[in-house]
Amino acid sequence: MLSCTQRWIWRCVVVLVAFACAISAKIMITKVDYVSNPDYLTMSVQINNETEGSTVDVDGNLFLDVVQGVFVNIDLDSKMEGEYMTMIGTSKELCSTDEAGMDPVVPLLNEELEKFGNLSFNCPYHKGFYRMRRFRMSNDHMLVKMVPPGEYIVKMDLQHKQPNATDKVQVFKLSFYFEIS
Ligand SMILES: *[C@@H]1O[C@H](CO)[C@@H](O)[C@H](O)[C@H]1NC(C)=O
Ligand SMILES: *[C@@H]1O[C@H](CO)[C@@H](O)[C@H](O)[C@H]1NC(C)=O
Ligand SMILES: *[C@@H]1O[C@H](CO)[C@@H](O)[C@H](O)[C@H]1NC(C)=O
Repeated sequence: MLSCTQRWIWRCVVVLVAFACAISAKIMITKVDYVSNPDYLTMSVQINNETEGSTVDVDGNLFLDVVQGVFVNIDLDSKMEGEYMTMIGTSKELCSTDEAGMDPVVPLLNEELEKFGNLSFNCPYHKGFYRMRRFRMSNDHMLVKMVPPGEYIVKMDLQHKQPNATDKVQVFKLSFYFEIS
């Protein structure tokens, strides 16, 4: 049986190891896949390898105003035994003013995105250029700390439903493959 002191030592070790991991945590993006609907926008995405981890540049040119009917799906897939499985999935109507069903992930991401340019999940979207430079998630961000080291994919899928349309059309889909070490 462990004595109290021994237990405390263990706790200390665990906390120190976690702390050390948090400091050295690094996000490296290994691949990015994206498709965009040319009726809506053109987009280019570039990954930069930097010493503190990867950063992302995005340039987008939106051809029309989109003020309603915008839906986003964000999934986090984790590699387990060689296969990717969805761990967290969130779906949100971006232009809805209904705060009740508000998912906390989208506002948390917006807050980060807005530090690096004018690309975010904030509705409405007016036609024009959008730009993001050297985006990175800080290692001590809550969303990063929730995720243990490993291989992941973040998928973002944005869809639009015209006022009287029955179906949604895809505006863009982005997948970031990354490793947290
Ligand atoms: C970034 O570095 C990784 C290995 O550290 C490499 O596999 C990858 O190709 C590099 N990407 C770019 C865009 O240079
Ligand atoms: C976004 O920022 C870019 C670069 O700063 C600027 O050229 C563009 O007009 C901005 N777009 C909008 C819609 O405000
Ligand atoms: C959508 O349908 C409503 C009622 O059927 C109609 O009044 C409106 O003009 C339609 N809007 C568009 C953009 O087609």
